[in-house]
Amino acid sequence: MSKKTAFITGITGQDGAYLARFLLDKGYRVHGLVRWDSYVDSAENLMRLKSLGIEKDDIILHYGDLTDAQNITSLIAKTKPDEIYNLAALSHVGVSFETPASVMDINTKGTLAILEAVKLLEMQKTAKIYQASSSEMFGSSPPPQNENTPFAPCSPYGVAKLASYWLIKTYRSAYGVFGVNGILFNHESPLRGDDFVTRKITRGVAAIEAGMQDTLKLGNLDARRDWGHAMDYVRGMWMMMHHDSPDDFVLATGQSCTVREFVELAFREIGITIIWKGAGIKEKGVDRETGKVLVSVDPALFRPKEVHYLLGNSTKAREVLGWRPQYTIPLVLKDMIKTDRTELRIEKALEEYNEPILAKKSPISA
Ligand code: NAP
Ligand code: GDD
Repeated sequence: MSKKTAFITGITGQDGAYLARFLLDKGYRVHGLVRWDSYVDSAENLMRLKSLGIEKDDIILHYGDLTDAQNITSLIAKTKPDEIYNLAALSHVGVSFETPASVMDINTKGTLAILEAVKLLEMQKTAKIYQASSSEMFGSSPPPQNENTPFAPCSPYGVAKLASYWLIKTYRSAYGVFGVNGILFNHESPLRGDDFVTRKITRGVAAIEAGMQDTLKLGNLDARRDWGHAMDYVRGMWMMMHHDSPDDFVLATGQSCTVREFVELAFREIGITIIWKGAGIKEKGVDRETGKVLVSVDPALFRPKEVHYLLGNSTKAREVLGWRPQYTIPLVLKDMIKTDRTELRIEKALEEYNEPILAKKSPISA
C-alpha cells in the first residue's frame, strides 16, 4: 500500500510537533508549512520537533505563510496531501486583543485559503481537512459545553476561530469538502509555549525551586479550564479524519480546575503548600512554612474580556470515535513540571559552569 501524505500547517507548534510524530509513527509522509524567521539560530523553530526525535530529513518542510493564498494553493497542488491538518494560528487569546486584524488574517482567511485551494484544485474527493477549532468559541456560554452548546466568543481569537468553523461547515455542505472541526478544549504538554498559563506556572515553580526566580506574577486566578494533554488530542484529530463522514467533535477531559488550584497543585509537586492571603489584585500566594510571597497578581495580565468557565462534554467523540483521554489534570501537570525541573537544573548548572569562564574572558574585567 502506498504511503499516505499529510500536510500540516503549524508544524512547529505544540500540536504540530506531536501530530507529526504521531503520523510518522503511522508511516505517513509528512509535509509541513514553516514561516521563515530571523532567529540567530534558524533551526530554533524546529526545537519542538527535534525534542520528539524528528530531524529535518524525516519530514518535508516548505516555506510559506497561511495568509498567502497563492503560496498555500501551490503547496497543496505540489504536495497532493490525502490529509490537511490546519493547526497554524495566532493561538494566544490575550495577544489577539492587541492584534485583531492579523488574527482574522491568519485564523480565518488562512482557513479560507486552504478551503478555496481544495475547491479550485478539485481535490474535494481526495484531500480531507482538519480544522483546529477551539473551546474558546463557547466563550460565555455556561458549562458543560458540547457540540450543541451555543457559541458566544469573547475575544478576537474566538471570533476568528468561529468564522473558520462556519467556513468548514459551509464548504462541507456546499461543495462536498471532507472538512472536520475538532472543537478542542485546552491541552498542554512540556512543549507548551511559555506564555500560556500552565507552562508559565510549571516553569515558574521550577525556577523558584532552582533559585532563579522569586515570584510568579499571574492575571485572573479564578478562570477555570478543562486541561488535557496534547498527545491525547492529536490522536483525536486523526480519529476524526478517519471517521466515515466529516463531522464536528468536542475533545475534552470533562474535568476542570481554576488557575489558583493549578498553582497549588504545581507547588505541591516541589513540597510547598500555598495559602492565599488578601483578595483581588492584592491577593498573594504565600509559602505556608516560610511566609514568603511566591505568587502575586499583575493587573496588566488581565484581558479586556475573559472566558470564565470552560468544561467540556466529549461524549460524542467517546461514543462515535471511541476516543478516550489518558491524561487528567494532575498527570498533565506532573509531565510538565518534571520536564521544567530537569531543564532548569541543566540551565542552572550550565550557567554556573560558564560563569567563571565568561568572567575570565570578559574584555570589561580585563
Ligand atoms: P502554537 O503552539 O501556538 O502553534 C501555532 C503554530 O502556528 C506555530 O507553528 C506557528 O508558527 C504557526 N503559525 C502562526 N501564524 C502562522 C502563519 N501566518 N503562517 C503559518 N504558520 C503560522 O499552537 P498549538 O497549541 O499547537 O495549537 C494548534 C492549533 O490548535 C491552533 O490553531 C490553536 O489555535 C488551536 N487550538 C489549540 C488549543 C490548545 O489548548 N493548545 C485548543 C484549541 C484549539 P511559528 O513557529 O512560526 O510561530
Ligand atoms: N496566558 C496567561 N498568562 N493566562 C493567564 C495568566 C497569565 O499570566 N494569568 C491568568 N491567566 C488566565 C487567562 O486569563 C485565562 O483565563 C486562563 O488563564 C488560560 O489562559 P491561557 O493559558 O492563555 O489559555 P486560553 O484558555 O486563553 O487559550 C488556550 O486555550 C484555547 C482553548 O480553550 C489557547 O491554547 C487557545 O489557542 C485555545 O483555543
